[in-house]
Amino acid sequence: MKELAGKVAFITGGGSGVALGQAKVFAEEVGMNVVIADIRQDHLDTALAYFRGKNAAVHGIRLDITDRDACRSAAAEAESRFGSVQLLCNTAGVSQFGPVEKATFGDWDWQIDVNLKGMINVIQSFLPRMIERGQGGHIVNTASMSAFVALPNTAIYCTTKYAVRGLSESLRIELGKFDIGVSCLCPGAVNTNIHESVLARPDRYGDSGYYGADPETFKRLKSVIEGGFDPVALGRVVRDAIERNDFWILPFPEFIPTMEQRNGEVIAALNQYVDHPDYARRMRLRAAQGRPMPGAN
Ligand SMILES: NC(=O)c1ccc[n+]([C@@H]2O[C@H](COP(=O)([O-])OP(=O)(O)OC[C@H]3O[C@@H](n4cnc5c(N)ncnc54)[C@H](O)[C@@H]3O)[C@@H](O)[C@H]2O)c1
Repeated sequence: MKELAGKVAFITGGGSGVALGQAKVFAEEVGMNVVIADIRQDHLDTALAYFRGKNAAVHGIRLDITDRDACRSAAAEAESRFGSVQLLCNTAGVSQFGPVEKATFGDWDWQIDVNLKGMINVIQSFLPRMIERGQGGHIVNTASMSAFVALPNTAIYCTTKYAVRGLSESLRIELGKFDIGVSCLCPGAVNTNIHESVLARPDRYGDSGYYGADPETFKRLKSVIEGGFDPVALGRVVRDAIERNDFWILPFPEFIPTMEQRNGEVIAALNQYVDHPDYARRMRLRAAQGRPMPGAN
C-alpha cells in the first residue's frame, strides 16, 4: 500500500511494545489516523498520554480481542471516528513459557484465544468492511520467529505462531483480488513488556502450570528481550515493508543459520522418497491430467 499519509490504521495491542512502536511511526512520522486497541487500560493511558500535545491523530479503544462482539464494535467505532480502515495491524499477543508437561488447559486456551483466535476475531470484524469499502488496504499479522523455530518451553506460544503464519500465508493468496496486501512480521527479540503478559491473563482461564506475576521471573525474561529490537525502529521496518507490499517481514538475519538447517532438513526428508514407486505413479497421473505441481497454482 502506497501513500499511507491521511489513511486510517487500527492496531491491536497498541498500548505497548511492538504495536505502540507501530502507532508512533504511523501517527507521528507518516501522518496516519491511528486507532490503538488494548485490553489494558493502564497501557492505553500511558500510550495516549505520550501522544497528547503531539501532532498525531490517535484514538484509544479498550478492547479484549477474545471478545467477538467487542471486536465488531471496535471496527464500527474506528470507522465512525476516522473513516474506513485501510491498514489493520494484528499485533496484540501474549506469551507464558514453561515445560509442555506442566501446561494446564487454561494455559493452552489463553494463548490460543489471544494469539490465534483473537487475531481471527479481528480479521472477521474488519475484513468484510475493508472489502465492502473497496479501497484496498493492507493487513500486517505479527507472528514471531517462533513461527519457524521450536525452542524448549515454548510449545504453546510456538503452536499459536505457526498458526498465525499459516493464516497469513493463506490470506496473502486470497486477498490480492481485493487489492489488500498482507504481511507477516516475524520478530526475534524486541524490547517490549511481553515478559509481563500474565498480568493481562483473565481469571476465567483458571490455574496455570507456569509462572505467575513473579518479579524475579519478569526480571529474568526482561534480561533476554531488553537487548532486542527497538519497537519504533521495528515500526519503521514495518512501514517500509507495507509500502513495498512485502509479505515476509523478517528483520532478524541472526536466524539464517537455523533456518538453513531447518529448511535443509525438510528438503532432505522430501528427497528421501524420490525413489518411492507411488511418487512416480502420482507424477505420471499429474502429467497425464496436465495438473501443475502442488502449490504452483
Ligand atoms: N517482544 C518480543 O521479543 C517478541 C518476539 C516475537 C514476537 N512478538 C510478538 O509481538 C507482538 C506484540 O508483543 P510485545 O512484545 O509488543 O508485547 P507487549 O506486552 O509489550 O504488548 C502487547 C500488548 O497487547 C495487549 N494485549 C494482551 N492481550 C490482549 C487482548 N486479549 N486483547 C487486546 N490486547 C491485548 C497487552 O496489554 C499489551 O499492551 C505479540 O504478538 C508477540 O507475540 C514479540
